[in-house]
Amino acid sequence: MAGTIFDKATAAAQFVNARTELRPRIAIVLGSGLGAFAEQLEGARAIAFALIPHFPQSTVPGHSGKLVIGMVSGVPVAVMQGRVHAYEGYSSEEVTFPVRVLGRMGVKTLVLTNAAGGINEGLKQGQLVLISDHINLSGRNPVAGPNDERFGPRFFDMSEAYSERLRLLAHDAAKEMEFRLDEGVYLSVLGPSFETPAEIRAFRTLGADLVGMSTVQETIVARHMGMEVLGVSCVTNMAAGIQKEPLSHEEVMATGRAVEAQLAGLLRRAVPLMGEQLTSG
Ligand code: HPA
Repeated sequence: MAGTIFDKATAAAQFVNARTELRPRIAIVLGSGLGAFAEQLEGARAIAFALIPHFPQSTVPGHSGKLVIGMVSGVPVAVMQGRVHAYEGYSSEEVTFPVRVLGRMGVKTLVLTNAAGGINEGLKQGQLVLISDHINLSGRNPVAGPNDERFGPRFFDMSEAYSERLRLLAHDAAKEMEFRLDEGVYLSVLGPSFETPAEIRAFRTLGADLVGMSTVQETIVARHMGMEVLGVSCVTNMAAGIQKEPLSHEEVMATGRAVEAQLAGLLRRAVPLMGEQLTSG
């Protein structure tokens, strides 16, 4: 069975585990312009994606591409600073490979963050939103094809893809920081072109509050492996047709940079809450 995704993910996990004594049960993926949290870990060990066997390399500016393992508020965490996207030409197997590796390292709780366009007009540019559910319009599913039972079952439930328990903890962390987190449905597209105004109207009719080009594939794979998922979007722009200015990657990055300190604060508070639950439960 050499050369299966399971074997490759196991080899990559062993490579990472050999470089740190920490055994994180919580991992966090930082999206576009949202990398600051990774700089705040104590006793951190950073490993460039390029060094990890079989790991995909990001080609997008703003996704620096390293796995950082360290401590936050006394809890060991693995942080992916950057990710790869299907629009770069990667298969959904490649896009989700890092999540497979985190799972093989023993991670049980996955926090996925991203930059997203706001479809719901009640949202504001620059705010953080908890993902309550998703709509997969990326045209892909990372678990299509032969199923490897060592990861998880052929068919699996997605009715609570984003853990209600973790969302409650995130709300508690936001309360400590004296801001309120909205929740919304995240719809994923392949990209990299932004949407047309007609697409955004259609997505609103479908029940979407947010639109983006990541996260959903990773959530599916994490659920396949039985991990609990928390999703956090940063509304980097209002979606096409809502805001007057044309959309740009520069705007996405600039808003991300303006919000990354707040996101880092939220994660710093939420992680120990999640850590306590893990050790006591
Ligand atoms: N659309 C898709 N993806 C995005 C957007 C958007 O408006 N903003 C940030 N990521």
